[in-house]
Amino acid sequence: MIGPHEADQAQDHCSVEHSEYKDSSVSEAAFELLDLQPALGLMREEVLAGLEAPVKVLSPKYFYDAAGSALFEQITELPEYYLTRTEIGLFDAHSSAIAAAIGRGSCVVEYGSGSNLKIRKLLEAAAPAAYVPVDISREHLEANARALQADFPDLDLYPICTDITTPFELPAAVAALTKIGFFPGSSIGNFEPRAAVRLLATIRATLGAGQFLLLGVDRKKDPAVLEAAYDDAAGITAAFNRNILRHLNEALDGNFDPDAFRHVAAYDAAAGCVQMFLEATAAQDVVLAGQRIRFAAGERIHTENSFKYHPTEFEQLAGQAGFAVNQFWTDADALYGLFLLKATD
Ligand code: TRP
Repeated sequence: MIGPHEADQAQDHCSVEHSEYKDSSVSEAAFELLDLQPALGLMREEVLAGLEAPVKVLSPKYFYDAAGSALFEQITELPEYYLTRTEIGLFDAHSSAIAAAIGRGSCVVEYGSGSNLKIRKLLEAAAPAAYVPVDISREHLEANARALQADFPDLDLYPICTDITTPFELPAAVAALTKIGFFPGSSIGNFEPRAAVRLLATIRATLGAGQFLLLGVDRKKDPAVLEAAYDDAAGITAAFNRNILRHLNEALDGNFDPDAFRHVAAYDAAAGCVQMFLEATAAQDVVLAGQRIRFAAGERIHTENSFKYHPTEFEQLAGQAGFAVNQFWTDADALYGLFLLKATD
């Protein structure tokens, strides 16, 4: 799921003034969006290469169109999907310890600007001076940042639109501040372990030595609990998985029948990973972007991985990327881990 890095990306610096805060007695916080998003023309090539490969695969980044993002929001509230509520419980229980470790007036860098709920908790607890949300979707990024601006008028906002796996530099204005990376939702588990090490090393390079990373990781547990979290009784995760086909139909002029594909979520204990597939219920041909793609009955498209870690396994993985565990928290049922990592020198 690592997007190609274009060496000659167009850089679109846009600085927007706070017209609402003209009164000089009110502080004027910064709002500067940096757009490093790669060209969309790459989607066709990437998608077709994945569907023409001997084992069909789609990049999970295509889940998140507007409908997909709304379905994912519903996933986070499902009874079977314990991850989000457990992580929020850990933030609530340990926010003062987190704040004490990083101090006030820091710079928070969020990898994937997801639910505003989690970042609000961190902003309230740690009172940073600056916030750098990083996300591939410019619309999402801008809307989330604008929503925060209203409630945190003194917070300097520097949104960066890019693929989080692509190295980028923080704005010069935050150079002197303590950095705290924020990577919630066990999104690190959506990368293969070696890619996860590479991503953490990239994050470490952006933040610098001695800086912090607050990261949520789903733990290994009973496979039945894991599989239910990715195959709920109400069928929301199945709808989310199938939505990728609807999104491709729209974006690349395709004729996928999403109902002709079954959602499959299976935990591979040896790999420590829940794998998600769309399985063709019958042999069929699909036309996408002018190309014909054949499916045999039962043939699968691999759409997502979600790796799970024992805390000690994850500590070792983080160590390979130059991070040491500063603090670790978990819930009473040992479902989920929250790590405060610190970049070693
Ligand atoms: N980061 C989330 C996770 O691995 C994403 C996710 C949840 C997901 N449910 C999904 C991705 C279903 C694809 C399909 O838990």
